[in-house]
Amino acid sequence: MCGIIGATGQGCVTEILLEGLARLEYRGYDSAGVALQADGDLWRARAATGTRSLEDLRKIVDGAPDAGGALTGIGHTRWATHGHPTEENAHPIMDCSGRVAVVHNGIIENWRELTARLASDGHVRTSDTDTEVLVHLVEEELATGASLVEAVRATLREVSGTFALAVVCAGEPGTIVAARRVSPLVIGLADGDPEGEVAGEALLASDIPALLGRTRRLWALEDDQVVELRPGSMRVTTLAGKEVEPSVLQVNWDLEAAEKGGHPDFMGKEIHEQPRALSDTLLGRLLPDGTFALDELRISDEDLSRVDKVFIVACGSSYHAGLVAKYAIEHWARLPTEIDIASEFRYRDPVLDSRTLVIGVSQSGETIDTLQAMREARQWSAKVLVISNVVDSSMAREADGVLYTRAGPEVGVASTKTHLAQIVALEVLALHLAQLHGRMPPADARMLFGDLEGLPDLVELALAREKDVAEIACRFLGTRDFFFLGRHVGYPVALEGALKLKEIAYLRAEGYPAGELKHGPIALIEPGAVVVGVATRTRLWEKMMGNVAEVRSRGATVVLVANDGDSDTADQADEVLWVPSTDPLLAPVIDVVPLQLFAYHLARAHGHDVDRPRNLAKTVTVE
Ligand code: M6R
Repeated sequence: MCGIIGATGQGCVTEILLEGLARLEYRGYDSAGVALQADGDLWRARAATGTRSLEDLRKIVDGAPDAGGALTGIGHTRWATHGHPTEENAHPIMDCSGRVAVVHNGIIENWRELTARLASDGHVRTSDTDTEVLVHLVEEELATGASLVEAVRATLREVSGTFALAVVCAGEPGTIVAARRVSPLVIGLADGDPEGEVAGEALLASDIPALLGRTRRLWALEDDQVVELRPGSMRVTTLAGKEVEPSVLQVNWDLEAAEKGGHPDFMGKEIHEQPRALSDTLLGRLLPDGTFALDELRISDEDLSRVDKVFIVACGSSYHAGLVAKYAIEHWARLPTEIDIASEFRYRDPVLDSRTLVIGVSQSGETIDTLQAMREARQWSAKVLVISNVVDSSMAREADGVLYTRAGPEVGVASTKTHLAQIVALEVLALHLAQLHGRMPPADARMLFGDLEGLPDLVELALAREKDVAEIACRFLGTRDFFFLGRHVGYPVALEGALKLKEIAYLRAEGYPAGELKHGPIALIEPGAVVVGVATRTRLWEKMMGNVAEVRSRGATVVLVANDGDSDTADQADEVLWVPSTDPLLAPVIDVVPLQLFAYHLARAHGHDVDRPRNLAKTVTVE
């Protein structure tokens, strides 16, 4: 989830790049960099100083006498996925000769094999990024006499994964070659002078905001299309070299709307980014032999196979993701698994030793309660692993190992896409543990991983029903109290649905395991009470429906999350939130989506700012 920009023309290219990068900072700011072509040479500047990266990059560029004269350049702002957020890993990444530079957004899946092959051919690796293979492959092709565009096409035929990339080389002044697969790429042409004596600029960016105000003549590149940009012109071809017409983009957004991808707020945008967050988190994790590639894990297979007990520590939505993982780890790996609210963990004298695995789950990697719980665990010599969305966060640095979700930056205070990404990352970890403990043959792991890979499309289907969910939510504008019920993995979904409603709609919402209702809370059910139940076909569906009958018979209005076409469930509901079905242990990823949308639309109907709910902070660094 990085931002990329490129420009070639007579205008102030350096300024176009820096201004574009500033508008792309919401996509990450671990580092920023540019590569500029001036006088047949390539000049690169990079800074990796976190929130100051762009400011520091500007100082370097301003101090460089040639930078202002550049006519062609590419730039990048990084959200680290492979490799630490250091200057070495900042883009543009260069080849061995320093004459080719690439910026890239996405993940190259087969980078391990390609890195090994390139190393044996004598290429020297200068970064830990997956991106670097791209530039060395281009370098090899150029050495055979290929043009830049031919070299890029040949390279892209060798790589698997996702990319939006732009390449420049010293040998072809004025040219940028760019391409995409899955990750978006927008092309723009700006007019030259009216007499046509000066060609205009040709521009590219990963996102529309970077080009707004420069031109309204925009095109979107399709998957596996390659574009050659020269001042004022573009030529689009397929990977096979066939010329094609790119699709015109009609954009009527202002800058603020564009940053939110046309959504009214970041939360709405992030809810819709969930399919992508899931596929990025899963990308390249399964190896052809049916084992898992968890490079950042840093805890050896031997240590993990010695583990005889698992503790999960987390707060809020991350706790709910951890609760789903408890079911998955116990079922697949048959390892006893406890879960704790992180702020309680170290005050209860947990019994841990060197064979205990403690998993901290934290989007930010900075939440003090979770950090302290992990520190406590390390004192007992437990192996500590963190699931984090932020590369090199405090937890990632202190833990023995880390598994990154790749959801990209989440701006809205309410967790959405990072929550879903946490669940799938934890489920991959559960499968890995199951294999290491001899509980799951590779064929079964491969099949379940296939189901995980199917989730992005199913989440997309769940999102397609947004209008229906919004209409249902608005029928409850007058309701102040809600009960959310679920059983088995539906229970964490109920908790998450209730939390979303509390934090952004400011409505009282109790999340309960449905079987617990009759031990007290059912006293609160009376005509008019609203009960939201997770009633998809997971293991305890029949028991769940028994609990639904209990509240219906006491006059509650019942809203049920049900699998498509399940009329038995729908018959017991006043309102139905339909979702597609999947393996029961993976279902929370889909089932929670209508509950996010329910809270989101109800909060907006109440006129609340969903991105910045009152009294809350995105990262909680006080106990
Ligand atoms: O950064 P973390 O995942 O450690 O944050 C934990 C909670 O503060 C967080 O999940 C919070 O509950 C959500 N923002 C709620 O939507």
